[in-house]
Amino acid sequence: MSESFQDFFQLNKEIVYLNAAAWSPMPIASAQAGVDAITRRTARYWETIPSDFFDASERLRSKVATLWGTMPRNVALIPSVSYGVETAVKNLRLQPGQEILLPQDDFPSDVYPWIEAARRDGAQLNFVHRPENGDWTGAFLACISPKTALVSVPLADWTDGAYFDLKQISRRAREVGARFIVDVSQSFGVVPFSIADFDPDFLFSTGYKWQLGPYGMAYLYVADRWLDGQPLENNWINRRGSEDFSRLIEYRGEYQDGARRFDAGERSQFHLTPMAVESLSLIYELTVPAIFAHVTSLVADIYEGLQGLGFNLPPAQFLAGHMLGARHRHWPDMNPLVKRLRDRGVHVSARGSAMRIAPHLYNDRQDVARLLGILAGEIKS
Ligand SMILES: Cc1ncc(COP(=O)(O)O)c(C=O)c1O
Repeated sequence: MSESFQDFFQLNKEIVYLNAAAWSPMPIASAQAGVDAITRRTARYWETIPSDFFDASERLRSKVATLWGTMPRNVALIPSVSYGVETAVKNLRLQPGQEILLPQDDFPSDVYPWIEAARRDGAQLNFVHRPENGDWTGAFLACISPKTALVSVPLADWTDGAYFDLKQISRRAREVGARFIVDVSQSFGVVPFSIADFDPDFLFSTGYKWQLGPYGMAYLYVADRWLDGQPLENNWINRRGSEDFSRLIEYRGEYQDGARRFDAGERSQFHLTPMAVESLSLIYELTVPAIFAHVTSLVADIYEGLQGLGFNLPPAQFLAGHMLGARHRHWPDMNPLVKRLRDRGVHVSARGSAMRIAPHLYNDRQDVARLLGILAGEIKS
C-alpha cells in the first residue's frame, strides 16, 4: 500500500522531503488539472462560461465538507487562514475585561487578528504557557475560567505536532460560555477528525500543506449559529442571484446560502480550484485513516531512532502522531543542523528551538533510514 502512494507524485529520489508541515509536493493529477485549466484560458479562452464561476467552486466546497464531516453550506472558500481568522474577529465581539486564550508560540495568523480584537473590545489576550510535560489539553483545561470568552487552538502544534484534544477543550469552553476557534492547517488531510465531534464556532485550514493543494486556496468552516454573520468583503459573487450575469446591476441585499456569504472575492480561481479538487479527491480516495496509519508508522520509527540519538522529544502520548519537533543539547539553534541535512538532500525545518520532521504519504522507510543515518553521523562528528 505504502509504495503505491508514491505513484501519485513525480518524486525525485535524490531528495528526502520531510517537510509537509511547510508545503507538499503537488500530486501529478493536480498539476495536470492546473495545466488543463491554463491551456483552456490560453488556447480556448472563449469557452469560459458563467458556470465556471460556480460549478468547480461547489465541487471544492463539497470535498472539503465531506472530509470535515460537515455540510457544504457551512464551508466558505477563502485565500488564506488569515482571512478566515479576520472573518471570525469581525463577527465575534468581546466584553471589556473578558479573556481570549491562545497557546504560547501559536502561528502568527492565529494571533495578530486577536490582538486587534482585544484592543477593539477592551479584552485581554492571554497565552497558555507551553506545558513542560507536553500536555496542552490539560494546560487549557486548567486555564479556561469564567472570564474566558474565546479559546483558539490548533489540533496539532505547528512547531512540534503536539496534540490538542478538541473534544475536551471544546466541552470546557462551552461550560464557561466561551467561543471555540480551531486551526486545522497542520492536520487536515492527515489526522482524522470530524467537526461534529467538537462543534467549533469557526475553523480554518490552509490548502497547500498536508492537503496537497495549491497555495492561495484555504477553507473556512462557519457554524450554523453564525451563518447570518457579516462577511469580510462586500463582493458581487456572494450576493443572491449572482449566477445571472445579466442582472448583476439589480443590487441585492440578500446573500447566497449559508457560508457562501463568507467566500472571498474571485474565489472561483479558475486555475487553482480544479487543482485543489484533485488533491482533496486523492486524499478522499486514499482515505485519511489510511494516510494517518502510514505516516504515524514512519513517525514512530523516527521517534525511536531520534531517542536513541539523544534527542529530546515531546512525550509520545501527547503527540497527534504525524509530525515531530525534536530538540538536542548539541544544537540549541537547529538551523545549522537543518542546513547540513539539506546539503545532503534531506529536507526538514527549524521551528523555534526544534527540528520539525513532517513525513507524508509519499515518504517510506528508506527516507527514515536516510534521515537517521545522517543524524547519527552528525552526532558522532
Ligand atoms: C497553523 C498554521 N496556520 C496557518 C498557516 C498559514 O497562514 P496563512 O494562510 O494566513 O498564510 C500556517 C503556515 O505555516 C500554519 O502553520
